[in-house]
Amino acid sequence: MEIIRTVDQLKNRIAEAKGANRSIGLVPTMGALHDGHISLVDRARRENDVVVVSVFVNPTQFNNAADLATYPRTEEADCAKLEAAGVDIAFIPSVEEVYPEPDTRVFDLGEVANVMEGPMRPGHFNGVAQIVSKLFSMTQPTRAYFGEKDFQQIAVIRRMVEIEDFDIDIVDCPIKRADDGLALSSRNVRLTAAQRAVAPAIHRIMAESVALAADHTVDEVKQWVIDNINNVDQMQVEYYEIVHPLTMQPVDNWSNEPVGCITVYCGDVRLIDNIKYKNHSC
Ligand code: PAF
Repeated sequence: MEIIRTVDQLKNRIAEAKGANRSIGLVPTMGALHDGHISLVDRARRENDVVVVSVFVNPTQFNNAADLATYPRTEEADCAKLEAAGVDIAFIPSVEEVYPEPDTRVFDLGEVANVMEGPMRPGHFNGVAQIVSKLFSMTQPTRAYFGEKDFQQIAVIRRMVEIEDFDIDIVDCPIKRADDGLALSSRNVRLTAAQRAVAPAIHRIMAESVALAADHTVDEVKQWVIDNINNVDQMQVEYYEIVHPLTMQPVDNWSNEPVGCITVYCGDVRLIDNIKYKNHSC
């Protein structure tokens, strides 16, 4: 595996691959890699000739300085995992390399960004659009891989791709969970042992709510999930919205296979997850 730290070097390597007509799979990450990331890498490996993984904690998507400062950084372990997964190129640039000047672009992300994480984390999605568009320009991937844990982020990235007219296949990949159901996340390492023990309740309660959808309204199910999770020690729901899978707008009925998207504070660790409500028509 080649570790590349400069944009010029990356562009040269990409030009070489493109010249040889090789397809390129990009997996953008912020490091602190876990099996969820590796499942994206495995899929990219199966579907492309060259696999590039970027490892970059992007400052422009953090609207909270403490969150940026405490975001886990584990470069050595990340490189070992990427090497073992058969990655061709790990792109690990510095902040100065990616942003030689401040990125002042403001993306018109529209309705997919005006709910849930949009208002909760002002500027976050614009920062995601900035970095992902830069990575797309630098890497010119055939396909780019994103985990469905960040369900709304994928919708935002699809919108950015439309605005920028990138010819890139956005591949969304299923959430990877621990055996007890907790969605894998780089932030899980910040949970105390007691918090880690209760955190699987998030997925368990959301999964139980899918059966309730057969004979309850959207509002009833929503409230049931919020109340049950808030009853768990150390848990505080920030929001739970049941939304249309493409527009991200809250729905009032079960048609169109809506998705329940949640953010929960477990102590001071902010966890997100989602669940699909399938096959209910009432
Ligand atoms: O999902 C993430 O890890 C980040 O938001 C991404 C897509 C790598 C952009 O920094």
